[in-house]
Amino acid sequence: MAKVLIATEKPFSAIAVDGIKEVTDAAGFELVKLEKYTDKAELLSAVADVDALIVRSDKVDAEVLDAAKQLKIVVRAGAGFDNVDLAAATSHGVVVMNTPGQNANSVAELVFGLLVFGVRNFFNGTSGTELMGKKLGILAFGNVGRNVARVAKGFGMEVFAYDAFCPAEAIEAAGVKAVGSQDELFSICDIVSLHIPATPETRQSINYDLVGKMKKGGILVNTARKEVIDESGLIRLMEERSDIKYLSDIKPDADAEFAEKFPGRYFATPKKMGAQTAEANVNAGIAAARQIVGYINEGCTKFQVNK
Ligand code: 3PG
Repeated sequence: MAKVLIATEKPFSAIAVDGIKEVTDAAGFELVKLEKYTDKAELLSAVADVDALIVRSDKVDAEVLDAAKQLKIVVRAGAGFDNVDLAAATSHGVVVMNTPGQNANSVAELVFGLLVFGVRNFFNGTSGTELMGKKLGILAFGNVGRNVARVAKGFGMEVFAYDAFCPAEAIEAAGVKAVGSQDELFSICDIVSLHIPATPETRQSINYDLVGKMKKGGILVNTARKEVIDESGLIRLMEERSDIKYLSDIKPDADAEFAEKFPGRYFATPKKMGAQTAEANVNAGIAAARQIVGYINEGCTKFQVNK
């Protein structure tokens, strides 16, 4: 009987765990949980005898893979898999998958939660602005970016996007204006929403020069990854330009400095909240469980990311 571990430092909603259990029960698999762990040692011991692992942003590195002697598959229930050491997984013979799109609407809705909060001056009672008629730039037009575009149209925003890997025609087909570069996106938009993964190419790519291209009153919203921000560059820019706001769903390393220097212009959620809805948890969790059953029972490798 295959043993599946859900290891989530930030747990799924109970309804999602029930849904995962239905899938694993139906397959005759055993399901165990390690939730809200605070020490890596707990994870190392929990993975020792499992065949499959479901994680969120939990780090799965070579040490975890070494400790997981029977592990065959890790599914990151979510989009970004920068928390899993793909090379180490491959060398351990472990398949890694993500569940693309399953939490995309949840993240997209949070973008607008942050934006309304931002343009209404953090609800401090002073007169803010509206989103209608503003130019929104979407950096990377994947599942989240597409959902952001859909919601933005409901707000009456003018929507632009740039994606180095998505042809302009595909962006235009979604009713969004494609621009030719990220420089252009930042130059023309009032608000830029980041949806790029953290990769060697994107790390610290959102820097002083790029954000500095924004018009007066520019707002940068980040529901992607903290690693894509050049924090010292952004701090320098916000010191020089008192009009720029930064709203983030991921606390930067320099959170205390941002908070101290830019009151009313900087906000970060205490814990990453983008995918933290019952619906996203159910969608991503159940998809992860199904992918595990599909791989273990039938060898299905759809959604494998370490090929
Ligand atoms: C993702 O990559 O899917 C999101 O950042 C959500 O991450 P989380 O599951 O840790 O909330």
